[in-house]
Amino acid sequence: MLLDSFGRRAVDLRVSLTDRCNLRCGYCMPAEGLPWLPKAELLTDAELVRLMDLAVTALGVREIRFTGGEPLLRPGLAGLVAACAALTPRPELSLTTNGLGLARLAAPLREAGLDRVNVSLDTLDPVVFHRLTRRDRHADVLAGLAAAETAGLRPVKLNAVLMRGVNEGEAAGLLEWCLERGYELRFIEQMPLDAQRGWDREAMVSAEEIHAMLAQRFTLTPEPRGARGSAPAERWLVDGGPARVGIIASVTRPFCRACDRTRLTADGQVRDCLFASEETDLRGALRAGADDAELAALWRTAMWGKKAAAGIGEPSFAQPSRPMSSIGG
Ligand code: 5AD
Ligand code: SF4
Repeated sequence: MLLDSFGRRAVDLRVSLTDRCNLRCGYCMPAEGLPWLPKAELLTDAELVRLMDLAVTALGVREIRFTGGEPLLRPGLAGLVAACAALTPRPELSLTTNGLGLARLAAPLREAGLDRVNVSLDTLDPVVFHRLTRRDRHADVLAGLAAAETAGLRPVKLNAVLMRGVNEGEAAGLLEWCLERGYELRFIEQMPLDAQRGWDREAMVSAEEIHAMLAQRFTLTPEPRGARGSAPAERWLVDGGPARVGIIASVTRPFCRACDRTRLTADGQVRDCLFASEETDLRGALRAGADDAELAALWRTAMWGKKAAAGIGEPSFAQPSRPMSSIGG
């Protein structure tokens, strides 16, 4: 098992499959993109499958989420999904994507064994989308969402980040749009993870503000206590339910105490937290010939050192040197 010294157990593995992306969201990347990881440093499919197999069969991981960058850009993704779906016990398999290419890939990924997708969409306005992501691809995301629904990757979940002066007025509109389609919407407070280090606490649209904006148009009832579990989102029933909306207060009300995550980067480093300042090099060990027991021991040690909390906003907080795009959401 992957335990830490505060009694938490990591059962949810986030695997970044590539640091590349075809969008340039301002809260993540500069317009010119980033120097991508060299191919030789990326885990191969066989290496990835070996580590995910180890995580599931020896370390108690029950859920695998593929992230990026943009995971749909990874060649052979369906094969990776199928390999994970063949593991025993079969983990739950999901994917966090910007939706580009999902129109084409939703059905084959579903067939390979993918259970669910989280699609990032911050605006309903193609012009705002272009401004936010620096690409004119709004229609492709909508097509991707529809394909996910048709392929049975349900419930389709949406992630939205609100930015002051850009899309902050869209909270209620986004929720209404999702309710009409049966999509589950979650808002995420903007975190200090952008490569260009432009995050500003004052400019961040807080969970409290988001809740207030939604409450003007909808009746929000907190989900019964306990329903949250280790899920980071605080959830509300909308207009009596069954539809729900989530708000992830990563900055103002962090959920570190219930965190059940462990992370693997595309270049084979274990991170015990999005905001970790240290990593454990599984790729190096693996390529030096380590056996499964040695790799498992490294992973366990990495997680044992997990801090009680990330501490965004505390004086000692330092933004990780790796940007979000090479850690994964
Ligand atoms: N703060 C909050 N969320 C972010 N995401 C990317 N960068 C940030 C950030 N700085 C979101 C994406 C996606 C998920 C992986 O994380 O919009 O939905
Ligand atoms: Fe790409 Fe996601 Fe970063 Fe946007 S937030 S640039 S979609 S990796």
